[in-house]
Amino acid sequence: IDTFLKESFPPGFQWATSTESFKVEGGWKADGKGETIWDRFGHEHQAFENQTIDLACDSYNKVDYDVYILRGLKVNTYQFSISWARIFPSGHRGSLSEKGALYYDKLINALIESGIQPVVTLYHWDLPQELQDAGGWTNPSIVEAFKDYADFCFSRFGDRVKTWNTFSSPWVVSHAGYGTGEHAPGIKDYVVSSYQVTHNMLKSHAEAWHVYNDNYRKTQGGKVGIALNSDWAEPKNPALPEDVAAADRYLQFMLGWFAHPIFVDGDYPAELKTQIELKRNKCPSSEPARLPVFTPSESKRILGTADFFGLNHYTSRLVSNIDGGCTPGPQGVGDFQESVDPSWSSTASDWIFSAPSGLRMLLRYISKQYLNVVNVPIYITGNGMPTEYGGDTFNDTSRIEYMRGYINEALKAILTDGVNVQRFTVQSLMDGFEGKQGYSERFGLHYVDFENPERPRTPKQSAYFYSQVIEQNGFAVHFYC
Ligand SMILES: *[C@@H]1O[C@H](CO)[C@@H](O)[C@H](O)[C@H]1NC(C)=O
Ligand SMILES: *[C@@H]1O[C@H](CO)[C@@H](O)[C@H](O)[C@H]1NC(C)=O
Repeated sequence: IDTFLKESFPPGFQWATSTESFKVEGGWKADGKGETIWDRFGHEHQAFENQTIDLACDSYNKVDYDVYILRGLKVNTYQFSISWARIFPSGHRGSLSEKGALYYDKLINALIESGIQPVVTLYHWDLPQELQDAGGWTNPSIVEAFKDYADFCFSRFGDRVKTWNTFSSPWVVSHAGYGTGEHAPGIKDYVVSSYQVTHNMLKSHAEAWHVYNDNYRKTQGGKVGIALNSDWAEPKNPALPEDVAAADRYLQFMLGWFAHPIFVDGDYPAELKTQIELKRNKCPSSEPARLPVFTPSESKRILGTADFFGLNHYTSRLVSNIDGGCTPGPQGVGDFQESVDPSWSSTASDWIFSAPSGLRMLLRYISKQYLNVVNVPIYITGNGMPTEYGGDTFNDTSRIEYMRGYINEALKAILTDGVNVQRFTVQSLMDGFEGKQGYSERFGLHYVDFENPERPRTPKQSAYFYSQVIEQNGFAVHFYC
C-alpha cells in the first residue's frame, strides 16, 4: 500500500519553477524581435477566443517583478526559455538583435543577484517564422542554424548560465506541431513530417551539445541536456501480455523515440523500427509512417550527448492493444489505445489526469532503461496542472493535492528506489498563454489578471504550499495541509 512519505529531500536538492518565452514574454515585436510561429498562430485566430501572445504576461517589461515573486517563492532555481527570434530575428546570426540579448542579460543578472540559479531552455516551441517559411524543422538546414544559435547563447550567457536544455518537450513539436497540427505551425502530416522533425531535432540537439563540449565546457563548466516529455503507461489489463507489450510501445513512441538514440545506442528503439516496418508491410499502398535512418556517423554523434536526463511529466495512461489499421499517428501505427483510470482526478486540461504514482514508476523505468550507458542525474524539468479560467482562482486546492502527490512520489523514487533525481520543477511560475487554449487554462502558482494592462501577479495558495515544501526541503516537519 502506498502511503505518504514524511521525509526530507537530500541536501542541495534543486527546487524550481518555470516559464516559457512565448507563454509569458509579450513584446512580440519590441526592439526588433522577429515574428515567431506562435505570433502567427495567434494572429491567424487559431487560439481560444482569438487570443494572441502580443502582450501575454508582459514579462519582457517586468524582469524585476518576476524575480521578486521568485524570491517570494524561495525557489533556488528558475527555468525559462529564450525566444530565438528575439536574439536572431530572422533565425540567423546576421540579424542579431543586441536589445533582445540584453533582455536575457538583465533577467539572468537579476536572478543571480537574488541567489537563484538560471536554467535556460534554448528551444521551447517558438521558431522564428522565417525559418518556418523555409520548412522549419523538416528542413535539414535547420541543424546548422540551431547550432549557430546555441553557440551564440553559450558564448553570450554561459559565463552565468550553467544548465542548458537544448529542447523542452520536443515530442510535442513533432506530434502537435507537425503531426496533428493542433500547435503552431499547424502542419498535419503524421506520415513524413513528424518523423523528419524528430530526426532533425535530435541532430540539432547533438550538434549543440558538441559545440558546448568542444568550445565551452572547459571554461564554463556547465551542463547541457534535453528535457523530454513522457506520460507513464500501464497495461490496461496487466494479465494480458498483449496489453503489456502495447504499454511498452506507448512509451517507445513517446519517450524512446528521443531517449533511445541519445542514451542507449544512437538509434531509434528496435520496438519502434519493427512496428513501423510491420505497418509498412501491412499497408503497402498507404504507408502510415516513414522513419528516417541515421548513418553510423550520425548515430555516433548523437549517442551520449546529455549531461543530465530532463523529464517533463504530467499524467499517466492505461494502454490496451488494438489493431490500429493503417491510420497514421502513434495510436494507429503503434497499435494501442489509451484510456484513464476512473480514480485519477481530472483537471481543466483534457489530457492531464492526476496519477502521482506514475511519476515514481516512470523514474524507475528511466533509471533502468536509459541511465546505464550514460549515467547522469535526472532533473524533473516540468510537472503541474491547469485550473479553469473562472474556477479556484486563488484557493487552488486541486493543484496543491496534485503537487503534494507528485513531489512525494519523486521523494519515494529517491529515498526508496535510489533513483538519482536532483531537481523538481513546478510548471509554472504564473498563468500564461497555453497554446490552443489561450489564457483559458491556468497553470500558474501565481494568478495573472489578463484584464488588467499592468498584468498584476498574485500568489495562489499553491505558491504558499510550494514555498513551505521548499523551506522544509520536503515533508519531514509538521505540515499545515
Ligand atoms: C475570431 O475571429 C473570427 C474571424 O477569424 C471571427 O469570426 C470570430 O467572431 C472571432 N471570435 C472572437 C471570440 O472574437
Ligand atoms: C480553501 O478551500 C478549502 C476547501 O475547499 C478550505 O478548507 C480552506 O479553508 C480554503 N482556504 C482558504 C485560505 O480560503
